[in-house]
Amino acid sequence: MLQNNIETILKANPLIPVVTIENLGQVEEIYEKLSSQGIKCIEITLRTEFAWEAIALFKEKYPDFQVGVGTIISPEDILKCVKLKVDFMVSPGLTSSMIQQFDFSGIPFLPGVSTPSEIIRGIDMGWRIFKFFPADLFGGAKALKVYGNIFKDVSFCPTGGISQENYQDYLKLDNVIAVGGSWLTSQ
Ligand code: 3PG
Repeated sequence: MLQNNIETILKANPLIPVVTIENLGQVEEIYEKLSSQGIKCIEITLRTEFAWEAIALFKEKYPDFQVGVGTIISPEDILKCVKLKVDFMVSPGLTSSMIQQFDFSGIPFLPGVSTPSEIIRGIDMGWRIFKFFPADLFGGAKALKVYGNIFKDVSFCPTGGISQENYQDYLKLDNVIAVGGSWLTSQ
């Protein structure tokens, strides 16, 4: 079984803001916005050219935060996370070439799944906590209820289409450990 203490992070932070940083000037504003909501955790996506710099800056300036990296899609991304000593990593999926790097990194990791076969594959690789992505397009809370009947020991952090209006529908499910999304910084 691969070691992965992502459970501790998600339990302590049931709302995970997924943030895409367009310029470094946004970092302080985002920190203030999240802190004012009592949030002490952030997932910064690798979707802009500023992402790595923003991650390094966030870690340096705000040690009270758990700084995670999202949109990890290659072993190279994982190596950069190790260098920056990020607190957790999130991927929309999981490939066998990424597995060894994740194991080697020693950093808590949340792999992404959408379908039953992907969940079975993830379990086979040693995980039991997954990002469910994109949650709304793959059946939302209804799908997670069905997965709860099939995969008894598996928990999820749904993201993708989660909003102020529906996040509690997800959080009340027994197999949902946390929810993530951009709505926490976009409003
Ligand atoms: C993610 O990266 O997890 C999602 O893109 C966040 O989706 P949202 O913008 O719909 O919250």
